[in-house]
Amino acid sequence: MVSGGGTNLQAILDAVDAGTITNAEIAVVISNNPGAYALERAKKHGVEALCISPKDYESREAFNEAFLAKVDEYHLDLIVLAGFLVKIPAAMIEKYEHKIINIHPSLIPSFCGQGFYGLHVHEAALAYGVKLSGATVHFVSAECDGGPIIAQRAVPVLPGDTPETLQKRIMEQAEWKLLPEAVRLFCEGRLRVEGRTVIIEQE
Ligand code: GRF
Repeated sequence: MVSGGGTNLQAILDAVDAGTITNAEIAVVISNNPGAYALERAKKHGVEALCISPKDYESREAFNEAFLAKVDEYHLDLIVLAGFLVKIPAAMIEKYEHKIINIHPSLIPSFCGQGFYGLHVHEAALAYGVKLSGATVHFVSAECDGGPIIAQRAVPVLPGDTPETLQKRIMEQAEWKLLPEAVRLFCEGRLRVEGRTVIIEQE
């Protein structure tokens, strides 16, 4: 699921090509944004790319129903939110419990939840004056950015950082490594959730 440039999607596509992620096939890339470059990345890779947006429906409920029905058509084992800015319907979270992974560009529980997306996350981190930020990959639960954490990676905040330079460093040093790794571990059946904790089982 994507909404923007798709660099996290690209990291996953590259990991599949490199054989880092095995026994996995990317069935479809879905965006709410018809102009998302992520859709181009999917098409270039020969992956089905489609757009479904709340704007095309009379109500959010109608979208939620259509969205879940569309997702169900693919009989997915795993759903990855790679920069997806639409709220996942509660019914979908229930149906795909511990099968939806999200990447967030901070060390949750810092700078997350309602309103913390894109550059807003990094603006808040810089305003607070943290010396470390980073990224978190977690299972999606009903609580926004609050599901069981799979992995995190810290990234230094440097003097003179702007939200843009911090975002770029976190993407390069954390997001693009953490997300493919989490997908790999999931596809190898090595992630076990116990309450709020995710156990990574040895190979
Ligand atoms: C990333 O910073 C990700 O952490 C956040 O949205 C951004 C998506 O970037 N969820 P991209 O579309 O993967 O380039």
